[in-house]
Amino acid sequence: MTPKRKLIAGNWKMNGTLEANDALVRAVVAGMKQARCDVALCVPAPYLAQVQMLRHGSTIDLGAQDVSAQEQGAYTGEVSAKMLREFGVRYAIVGHSERRQYHGETDALVADKARTALANGVTPIVCVGETLAEREAGQTVEVVKRQLAAVIHVNGHCISEIVVAYEPVWAIGTGRTATPEQAQEVHALLRKQLGAATAQAERVHILYGGSMNAANAASLLAQPDIDGGLIGGASLKAPDFLQIIAAASA
Ligand code: 13P
Repeated sequence: MTPKRKLIAGNWKMNGTLEANDALVRAVVAGMKQARCDVALCVPAPYLAQVQMLRHGSTIDLGAQDVSAQEQGAYTGEVSAKMLREFGVRYAIVGHSERRQYHGETDALVADKARTALANGVTPIVCVGETLAEREAGQTVEVVKRQLAAVIHVNGHCISEIVVAYEPVWAIGTGRTATPEQAQEVHALLRKQLGAATAQAERVHILYGGSMNAANAASLLAQPDIDGGLIGGASLKAPDFLQIIAAASA
């Protein structure tokens, strides 16, 4: 099998302005002409239309940071997968630790969001990851397996269509990165878990997220089961994001 292209997805989180986005996306588009990896930008919902226009003519895919588990109806504040499709959205992050932590999202809800996304042609980027307390208590394997199992349980028939992101909570926004070996160990485990549910587990992109930056990207991306990155802070700076894209193109 030829190695699959890596996927570098920026997660802007709740950052951006019309003016800043314009400069950032233009710089990324101009700088990624030689990219030999897939690139996505997961932007706040109000900016989807703007970024859809700005990325025009480039290979950048558009992503959302969340999606409703419901199809439509009386769910104030929610954004449906169908609406995302109308804006050309290819990916939606589901189950980011910030949503699990601050918005009480459960494993079951995350699994339902993945299902609704898939049913509407949006690829869910399913985030899993342990907290520092869980890692220190030796519960990393148990936690990430439980989180992924819920998604497999609900989406088993099309599980090879998802993207998984391993984001250790203690590495997010802290400048503290998992070592390539620590990350690879968990990625291999997640691949094995997917392999029990599908013959296509090799096809699934398993991204690493958590303080990935221009300096550490290459060593993380060199690991056999790290198929790309989900980038927070460094995706807001064009030079840094472009260096990660270059590392993924090597
Ligand atoms: P940072 O890259 O800022 O640590 O964020 C990672 C993340 O949460 C991406 O979803």
